[in-house]
Amino acid sequence: MRKLILLIPLLLLFVHCRQQPAIPTGLVTEKAMVVSAREEASKIGSDIMKKGGNAFDAMVATELALAVAYPFAGNLGGGGFMVYRKSNGDIGGLDYREKAPLAAHKDMYLDSLGNVIPDMSTKGATSAGVPGTVAGVIAVHEKFGSIPLEEILQPIIALAKTGVIVTEKQSKRLEYYKKQFIEANGDSTKFATNFMPGDTIKYPELAATLEKIQQNGRDGFYKGEVAEKLASFIQEKGGFITEEDLEKYEAKWRYPVVFDYKDLRIISMSPPSSGGVTINQIFKMIEPHKISKYGHNSTKSVQLFTEAARRAYADRNYFLGDPDFVDIPLDVLLSQNYLKERMQDFSFENATPSSKVSHGKVEILESTETTHYSIVDSEGNAISATTTLNGGYGSKLYCAELGFFLNNEMDDFSAKPGVPNMFGLVGAEANSIAPEKRMLSSMTPTIVEKDGTLYMVVGTPGGSTIITAVAQTILNVYEFNLSMQDAVNAPRFHHQWLPDVVVFEPEGFSEELKTELKSKGYNINEERTRIIGKVDAIRILSDGRLEGGADKRGDDTAVGF
Ligand code: GLY
Repeated sequence: MRKLILLIPLLLLFVHCRQQPAIPTGLVTEKAMVVSAREEASKIGSDIMKKGGNAFDAMVATELALAVAYPFAGNLGGGGFMVYRKSNGDIGGLDYREKAPLAAHKDMYLDSLGNVIPDMSTKGATSAGVPGTVAGVIAVHEKFGSIPLEEILQPIIALAKTGVIVTEKQSKRLEYYKKQFIEANGDSTKFATNFMPGDTIKYPELAATLEKIQQNGRDGFYKGEVAEKLASFIQEKGGFITEEDLEKYEAKWRYPVVFDYKDLRIISMSPPSSGGVTINQIFKMIEPHKISKYGHNSTKSVQLFTEAARRAYADRNYFLGDPDFVDIPLDVLLSQNYLKERMQDFSFENATPSSKVSHGKVEILESTETTHYSIVDSEGNAISATTTLNGGYGSKLYCAELGFFLNNEMDDFSAKPGVPNMFGLVGAEANSIAPEKRMLSSMTPTIVEKDGTLYMVVGTPGGSTIITAVAQTILNVYEFNLSMQDAVNAPRFHHQWLPDVVVFEPEGFSEELKTELKSKGYNINEERTRIIGKVDAIRILSDGRLEGGADKRGDDTAVGF
């Protein structure tokens, strides 16, 4: 008995030690932070907060600064999604996703035989949806902004005029895409140049467009001179967007998907992004298991995650689309019984072939290139936003007069149900094309609460791999007790039902693990694969300080104070 009494403090100490959160390894700041794909954008966002702006002002600044500093995915010619959590616990989401133009129709990318016309939804003017970014940031500023738009845009316009220094990674990317830039824009395009690391690229035309927005807000982009130039440029190039399409565009406030995972409350984007629904399904299918006991990236945890993702992506591709156009049976898809049943045939012995996992039986009663940033301000307001042109530099079509690239987001629709898009995602009727409809997305801007307080802000680019990368990052911190930076650095893997293959990042997974998975029936991608996602995240430490996780797979940087 005496021994037992002596053991109790030791046991308590052991339990306590196990629950100690990981020591930070990323940038730690006291009050506020922005983590984004470029240092310039993170700094502009952080400086706005230093000047007294809130996280929403910083969102406007960071989003537009990325359009200048990171034209690979930052944009005026694209769209995105944002989830927020205010310091008082209020939550919300904004959909500034592109829309199909009024002239769009279901078969617009099919030839007379019903075959998909190559490149039409991925390259050039025909692939562009109506851009939503400017409407998005203006909607945020109108609802929550605390300092004048004019002041927010000033440093961004200055950056466009003085120019952005080319990094080594950017130089490689520009070189990689050069042929496609020339194909889309002719060889007099500014992107026909060989840019070396350390060179400066100036964007005077983009500065002039931003000045129009600075003076006239939303109308500076969607009406008047900019709209006229943009619509006639797109039409000259054979595209469909008209001035009417631009004028009619509106960003939409949407309530996020919210669910509990153990003692976490996870808040993520609702349709037309599939991110929140799919991540909700994955977490709920994993929840009954003690995944932390299986070990980080162990055979069992890779299996469990893969099987949950397989089932969730099968549902994603079948049921999800723009909620303004299709009825999505969310109450069934996210119900405990349904998800339990979905995992009924899961076993650690063998893989479940994707051919055996179709979309679940739900009775419907009638009726790889994006960018993410995370922000927390000194009041505790949090923003998670993911924005995109779809492909790298979108459609590659550059409107030289206005200074920005146009998206190729129309490819995120199912041009023909059953035929994969550029991310290999096989879609269905719910995501077919219709005028003014929003194409399904995988963007997963996410905010996590623990015990009712802000715990993490997280998101990533990566097309269809976004959802799995965000889920793994949250699990890395919460289940495997990694710091925010280590959770971002950790090697990632991906599975999306079809193709029936598990993709591992090139570094960080042993041959032994892959051999064991193969012996259980998993198909493993044997080619050297690309990186999976570039996660930019913030963890709130127990003393209220912030730890950044900036993904070194890119030039991503955390800046704060
Ligand atoms: N274009 C990538 C996405 O929306 O998920």
